[in-house]
Amino acid sequence: MQWNLTSGNHAFLLERGGKILAQTIISIGETAGLPNISYLDQSPLFHDILKNVRDGETGVERFITTKGRDYLVSYQSVPSSLWSVMVLTPFYESLSDIIPLDQFFLIFIATFILIIIFTFYIGKKFTDPVKDVVTGTQIIASGDFTYRIRTNLHDELGELAMSFNKMAEYLQNTYQDLKSTSAQLAQSAKLAAVGELAAGVAHELNQPLMVIRGHAQEMIEGNSVPENIIKDLRLIEKQTGRMMRIIDHLRAFARQSTGAFEQVNLNDVIDDSFTLITQQLKNLNIEIMKELDESIPRIWGDHNRLEQIFLNLMTNAKDAMEEKGEGVLSVKTQPIMDMTGDKNGKVTGVLVLFSDTGVGIGDNIMDKIFDPFFTTKEVGKGTGLGLSISYSILKDHGGSITAESNDGTGTTFRLEFPVERRMLPRGKNKKGDKSRESAS
Ligand SMILES: Nc1ncnc2c1ncn2[C@@H]1O[C@H](COP(=O)(O)OP(=O)(O)OP(=O)(O)O)[C@@H](O)[C@H]1O
Ligand SMILES: [Mg+2]
Repeated sequence: MQWNLTSGNHAFLLERGGKILAQTIISIGETAGLPNISYLDQSPLFHDILKNVRDGETGVERFITTKGRDYLVSYQSVPSSLWSVMVLTPFYESLSDIIPLDQFFLIFIATFILIIIFTFYIGKKFTDPVKDVVTGTQIIASGDFTYRIRTNLHDELGELAMSFNKMAEYLQNTYQDLKSTSAQLAQSAKLAAVGELAAGVAHELNQPLMVIRGHAQEMIEGNSVPENIIKDLRLIEKQTGRMMRIIDHLRAFARQSTGAFEQVNLNDVIDDSFTLITQQLKNLNIEIMKELDESIPRIWGDHNRLEQIFLNLMTNAKDAMEEKGEGVLSVKTQPIMDMTGDKNGKVTGVLVLFSDTGVGIGDNIMDKIFDPFFTTKEVGKGTGLGLSISYSILKDHGGSITAESNDGTGTTFRLEFPVERRMLPRGKNKKGDKSRESAS
């Protein structure tokens, strides 16, 4: 070990007995003129050190003089001689080469504070985003799907927060859909109940109507009333007859379908469908144009359910023209000819074109109109089930339905029905069906 021989340091060349042979000049001070090193201090520890020097040992020790001076003493024997070298260095100065103690404490405390700050920072950097995610999951689990995590991190934690936000958004949208669907379901359940009620009311009305009509007929036939009253009675007979037909129809329409297929004439189905809605259309200043081709073949189907399709289409057309205050509803039927191969010229189906001059359907919703519960109508007016039900009835009949529209000028629905029974879906094309197989 090397020691700085600055002021305050003492280096001695000693005989083993302690006699000072030489000492450094800068050490002249309290050691100047000492003949023997043993006179330097009388403390027991220094005597022990001198004993080690006498024994030719090597060592480094700290000792405090009787005058209270703190020294670090190092000694070593000179090889192949009876001499030793001893260096005395004030203890605190001896540490100055390593680290001054006050600086050492400063560095220690600064490092300690830095470690605490660093630990706190790292903790915040990693735990805060995780805490946010945990808080987020708790808030979402409590039913608030609007919560989003704010983050500007671009690492894995940032990605976690982003994925979390996406999930929350998805949940929010799904929840909204679910809410509106359940509201619509409740509405359609209400409508079904209203339908049943209407069928009941129709049944109750039938009786008094029959009585009124019967009396009117009796009076007409009885020749007991003047001619001018007979005119009124005939009017009563005619109108009550019409009311009874409507009621009959309503009851038939409200009856659950048996699901049995029979040969039906689509022209008749369309005429029947108009029974319930004609007056409403007239009240709205809507003209009805029918071009029903007498030559269309009968198709295999369920009269009641097919009527539901046309009633849905008529109701939609009525709603689309209502705002305009007038309009034209036209229905056209015609046979579909197959002009290919061996079927050349053969009638394979029936085409029904159903047009209105209403507000039309925008391109942006065209691909959604057949989806269940899709509606642009206010709650209470539309459930969004009309076209999806019509679509599934058509599928059951092996047919198809498409829509074409110019936004603002009207809409045309194109319906195609096959004639041949084997074109119907499985289950409807079997001979064992309860349906009447009347010839067309
Ligand atoms: N003829 C039409 N003209 C303009 N828009 C139409 C027409 N037919 C259907 N639509 C549009 O398609 C949507 C879906 O029609 P759909 O018949 O399935 O349901 P809805 O009429 O709204 O309700 P619901 O029939 O159950 O009372 C309507 O809300 C409307 O926006
Ligand atoms: Mg509808």
